[in-house]
Amino acid sequence: MSKAINLNLLDGRSLSQKQETIRSGTAAVTESALWTLVCPYVVKHRFMLALVLVLNVLPGLAVAFQTLAPKYIVDDILTVPGLSLSDRWWCLAGMVGIWLFFAAILRMLSWYLSYRVFTSVRENVVMDLRSRCFRHINQLCMGFHGKHSSGDLFSYVLGSPIGIISGYYHNLMMNVPNAASAFICCTLWIFMWDWCLTILLVSLVFATVFVIRLSHSELEKLQSEFQAVEMKVTGKVSDLFRGNREMKMHAVEDRMTEVFDEQAEALRLKTYDRDIRTHHVNMFHEGVGCIFFVFVIVLASWRYLEQVITAGEFFGYLGAYIALQGPVGLLFSLGTGRANAEVSAKRLLELLYTVSSTPDPRDNIRIPSPREDITFRDVSFSYDHTPVLHNIDLVIPYGQRVALVGPSGAGKSTLAKLAMRLYDAGSGTVYLGNHNVRECRSSDIRRRFGVVPQDPFFFHASIRENLLLICPGATEADLRSVCQTAKMWDFIEQLPQKLDTVIGEGGCRLSGGQRQRLAIARALLNQPDYFLFDEATSALDCVNEALVREALDHVVRNRTAIFVAHRLTTIKDCDRILVIDNGSIIQDGTFKELSSRPGMFREMVNQNRF
Ligand SMILES: Nc1ncnc2c1ncn2[C@@H]1O[C@H](COP(=O)(O)OP(=O)(O)OP(=O)(O)O)[C@@H](O)[C@H]1O
Ligand SMILES: [Mg+2]
Repeated sequence: MSKAINLNLLDGRSLSQKQETIRSGTAAVTESALWTLVCPYVVKHRFMLALVLVLNVLPGLAVAFQTLAPKYIVDDILTVPGLSLSDRWWCLAGMVGIWLFFAAILRMLSWYLSYRVFTSVRENVVMDLRSRCFRHINQLCMGFHGKHSSGDLFSYVLGSPIGIISGYYHNLMMNVPNAASAFICCTLWIFMWDWCLTILLVSLVFATVFVIRLSHSELEKLQSEFQAVEMKVTGKVSDLFRGNREMKMHAVEDRMTEVFDEQAEALRLKTYDRDIRTHHVNMFHEGVGCIFFVFVIVLASWRYLEQVITAGEFFGYLGAYIALQGPVGLLFSLGTGRANAEVSAKRLLELLYTVSSTPDPRDNIRIPSPREDITFRDVSFSYDHTPVLHNIDLVIPYGQRVALVGPSGAGKSTLAKLAMRLYDAGSGTVYLGNHNVRECRSSDIRRRFGVVPQDPFFFHASIRENLLLICPGATEADLRSVCQTAKMWDFIEQLPQKLDTVIGEGGCRLSGGQRQRLAIARALLNQPDYFLFDEATSALDCVNEALVREALDHVVRNRTAIFVAHRLTTIKDCDRILVIDNGSIIQDGTFKELSSRPGMFREMVNQNRF
C-alpha cells in the first residue's frame, strides 16, 4: 500500500520523527498534503467521480456550440446571399429552436445529474474526514490535549479546513471539467478558422497559468497566516465562553469584552490583509485579460479586413473570447483555491500524523487480569521537561486502601494518573499484575478504574445521559443504586425532571458538593476493580462527607482504592498512607505508625495541615 493511501500514517515514520511529533504536539508535514489526504477517497469513489467527470464534460461541449453559433447565424443565415426573408427566419428558428435548445437541455441535465452525484460523494468524504479527525483527537494523549484549546480542536472537526478542501474539490470536479472541455473544444474549433488568432488566445492562457503559478506561493502563505490567526482567535473566544462563570464572579465582563474585541480586531486585520492582497493578485490577472481583449479585437479586425476570416468568424472570435474568460478566471481561482486547500490539508495531516504519547501496542496486546496489584518500579516522570516524580518504587496489593498525602503540587494526582496510564512513565515501569501497562491498551486499563477526579466535568446533558455515557447498559435500578450510595438520590428525587434534569455545561447547575457526589456515582457504575478518589469529598460538608465515606467504605471493600486527600477524616481509615513530597515517597505506613514517628506526616497531623 502506498504511503499516500496508508492513512494510519505512522508506520513509515522513524522513531526520532515520532519523538519529535510527541514533543511538539503536532507533526510536521512536508509532502503534498492535499493529495495524501484525498488519495484514498479518490480510489474509493473512483467510479462515481469518473461519472461526474463524464457528465461534466458534456456541458462544456454545449457551451462551445452555443458560443460559436453566431458564426453560423451570421455567415449561413443572416448574410448568405440568395435566401428569402422567410427562409432566413425558418433557418434561424431551426438553429435556435432545435440546436441551441438541445444544447441548453444537454447542459442543464448533465449539470443537474453531476451535481447530485458529486454532492453525495463530497458529503460522504467530509463526514468521514470529520469523524476521522474526531476519533483521532479523542484517542490522543493527555499531553496533546493539555497543549490544545478546545476551540482549536473544534476548528479541526467542524471549522474551516475541511470546508476549504471540500470547496476546492467541488470547484475542481464541478466547474473545471466543463470549463476545460469548453476551452479545448472552442480552441480547436476556432483553430480551423484561423490558426494565428487562435495561437494568440492559447498563448495568453499559458501566460495566465504561468502568472498563477508565480502568485501561488504568496497566496499559500497568506492563507496559512490567516488560518493560524483564525485558529488562535477561535480558541480564545471559546475559552472566554467556557470561563463565563469565573468572568461573572470576578465582575470582569468589560475586560473580557475588551479581550474579545482585541481578538476580533486581529481577525479583522488579517482578513482585510488577506482579501486585499488576494484582490491585488486577482486584479493583476484581470489586467492581463483586458490587454488580451484589446489585442483580440485589433487582430480579429485586421484578419477580417485582410479577408482571412468572415464576419461570422469575427463575431465567433469575440464570443469565444468572452466564453473563455470563464475557464481562464476559473484557473485563477483554482490556483488560489488550491493554495488554501493545501494549507488546510497540511493542518489536518499534521493532526492525523500526531501520535499519542501513550500509544497502544500493535501486537502481543496483553489484557490486564482483574484484581491485580499495582506496581511502580523505579518510575520517574516529567511534564514536558519539568521533572515531577522521581524513582518511585511502590507496590499496592490488590484490595488495599491507600491514601496519598503531601503538599500541593507534590505529584499525588500525577502518580495516580500514571497508574491508570493517562501518562506513560518517562523511565521505569508501571505494572498491573504481571503486565507492563505499556503492553496493554490504555482503554483496557482505564476501564478497570473508577475515577473521581479533582475537578469533575459533566456534559451539558441530563444526569441520566451523563451517567449512561460511562455505562450505556446501566438499568434504572443501577442508576438509582449508585446515586443512593453517593448520597445524591434524595437531591435527584426533588428535581422536577429527576434523572432527566439537564445540569449545564460542565455541570454548572449543580453545587460543588453535588458535582462531587454525582462524580462518585458515575465512578461506581462500572463496578471497577480499582478506585481513584482525587479529593473526591473535599467540597462536602462534614455530615455529607461522613455519610458518603461510610457508603464508600462498603463499596470499596475487597477492591483497591487510592484516596488523594487533604482531609484527615478521609485518610484515617486507610490501610496505608504514602506521604509524597517533591515527587518522591518520603513516608509509607499506617496512620498509627506515621503519626507516632517524627516526620512530615506527624507535622501535618499536628498542624492539621494536609
Ligand atoms: N498537565 C500538566 N502539564 C504540566 N505540568 C503539570 C500538569 N499537571 C500538573 N502539572 C505540574 O506537576 C506538578 C504535580 O502536579 P499534581 O497535580 O500531581 O500535584 P498534586 O500533588 O496532585 O497537587 P494538589 O494537591 O494541589 O492537587 C505540579 O507542579 C503541577 O504544576
Ligand atoms: Mg492533585
